[in-house]
Amino acid sequence: MSGRQFYNHLLALLLLAIMTLVPNGSGIGVNWGTMSTHQLPPGKVVKMLRDNGVHKLKLFEYNEEIMTALTGTDIEVMVGIPNSMLKLMSVDPGAAASWVYNNVTGYCYDGGVNIKYVAVGNEPFLQTYNGTYLQYTLPALKNIQRALDESGVKCRYKTTVPFNADIYDSPESNPVPSAGDFRPEVKDLTIEIVQFLYLHDAPFTVNIYPYLSLYGNDYFPIEFAFFDGLSKPLRDGNNVYKNAFDANLDTLIYALSKAGFPDMEVIVGEVGWPTDGDKNANTRNAKRFNQGLIKHALSGNGTPARKGNIEVYLFSLIDENAKSIEPGGFERHWGIFEFDGKPKYQLDLTGLELEKGLAPVEDVKYQTKRWCVLDATATDLDMLPESVSYACSLSDCTALGYGSSCNQLTAKGNASYAFNMYYQVNNQHIWDCDFSGLAIVTDDNPSEEGCQFPVMIAFAHSSLLLHNNGGLLDVLLRIIGGFIVLISFLI
Ligand SMILES: *[C@@H]1O[C@H](CO)[C@@H](O)[C@H](O)[C@H]1NC(C)=O
Ligand SMILES: *[C@@H]1O[C@H](CO)[C@@H](O)[C@H](O)[C@H]1NC(C)=O
Ligand SMILES: *[C@@H]1O[C@H](CO)[C@@H](O)[C@H](O)[C@H]1NC(C)=O
Repeated sequence: MSGRQFYNHLLALLLLAIMTLVPNGSGIGVNWGTMSTHQLPPGKVVKMLRDNGVHKLKLFEYNEEIMTALTGTDIEVMVGIPNSMLKLMSVDPGAAASWVYNNVTGYCYDGGVNIKYVAVGNEPFLQTYNGTYLQYTLPALKNIQRALDESGVKCRYKTTVPFNADIYDSPESNPVPSAGDFRPEVKDLTIEIVQFLYLHDAPFTVNIYPYLSLYGNDYFPIEFAFFDGLSKPLRDGNNVYKNAFDANLDTLIYALSKAGFPDMEVIVGEVGWPTDGDKNANTRNAKRFNQGLIKHALSGNGTPARKGNIEVYLFSLIDENAKSIEPGGFERHWGIFEFDGKPKYQLDLTGLELEKGLAPVEDVKYQTKRWCVLDATATDLDMLPESVSYACSLSDCTALGYGSSCNQLTAKGNASYAFNMYYQVNNQHIWDCDFSGLAIVTDDNPSEEGCQFPVMIAFAHSSLLLHNNGGLLDVLLRIIGGFIVLISFLI
């Protein structure tokens, strides 16, 4: 062994030692959403998760291929039941039992899938839903819990309900975390759910997004959104808050304490920062936020109201080009990985600040290196605006918006960008690069510094086709009511 080989060997051993020091079930979790026109093969994504030492995964919905890819790994999984199934689950215990049997307990065998949590609904109390799921959530939770209890398998599961942070706030008259409480409209129902979860030794799950507080409020002190910010701290009695995340989480912890559950276990089900589609969404801010969050969550310092590690699931793993952009263009850019599994920035998931990049998804197959652009010789441009909006409505032009990575393009550059995105999501069919004769295929990469014209990954299958289906999560309303108040206190 040469000196260099020896050194590499030692380094590998050291890393292995560090990785095995992190027991399964601890460490940072990730949300893997699948609202993309082109999915990476689940097996390759799971390999990447293992390469990066990720032990905890949250899925919004059961997905057979992903489960198959997870089979035999020790990755701990939280699998969700979508809101659209809550009604059925609440009225039909048999449906709940068969969901549990097919989608959870069927994987309980040696070398199966390490499912630990079942998440019942996703932000079912979001104001945007106008109360649609209020009456179904607890009965569905009870039916799922009973089905799990009666399954007879040896695996142990816990239920939970991922809530949006707007179910609690602090009063305007006293905008501090210790004054936190559940919003009156949902208070009784939420406390009933808390009681049920507590009785079953199950955690409360909440999604916290300082980025959205910033997005929704021009007066939000941006530095307070980060963990190393230099903003004026928020004082609350003896507690001093230096970041929005802790202030928000403690608002919940105080609300739970008031309801009689000071030791309720809390999981942060989603937290993250997008990299494109808005002026504050870029890789620099995303890296700063996520790295600060990881370090903080794993430091054991906890929040002023509760010491210890904070259990968090990053939102999200991979960009999803088919998410609704009703809340904003940033919705398609939450990933710590690009659509093709390349890491966007260096991020150390151990919180030890090892200057070590994330491992990419390996062996990704792409479509041919060619692009569809505006034909420079085209003269009759009457149809151009119409063609561009058509192309954008059926693909993803969020990088063109104000403050986004391709916002500097000219009107013609915009057209090329739109044509290319449409052509790529449609798998480069020659007939998808026409646009009334305005478009041509080229081998010359039209990408510019900071503005990528992507070539899509090879089409394996897709969970959905792009269409404008409107009523998905309106993230805007996830902005925590009490927060706007906290902020007015700060500025
Ligand atoms: C398993 O989950 C999927 C996705 O949510 C759902 O479509 C399917 O109906 C579930 N299986 C059963 C038996 O309920
Ligand atoms: C909620 O109510 C508003 C106003 O009545 C309506 O515009 C919106 O479509 C409703 N949303 C849902 C999800 O029902
Ligand atoms: C390009 O498109 C974006 C998004 O539609 C728009 O904001 C921008 O003004 C366009 N640029 C030009 C030069 O037309």
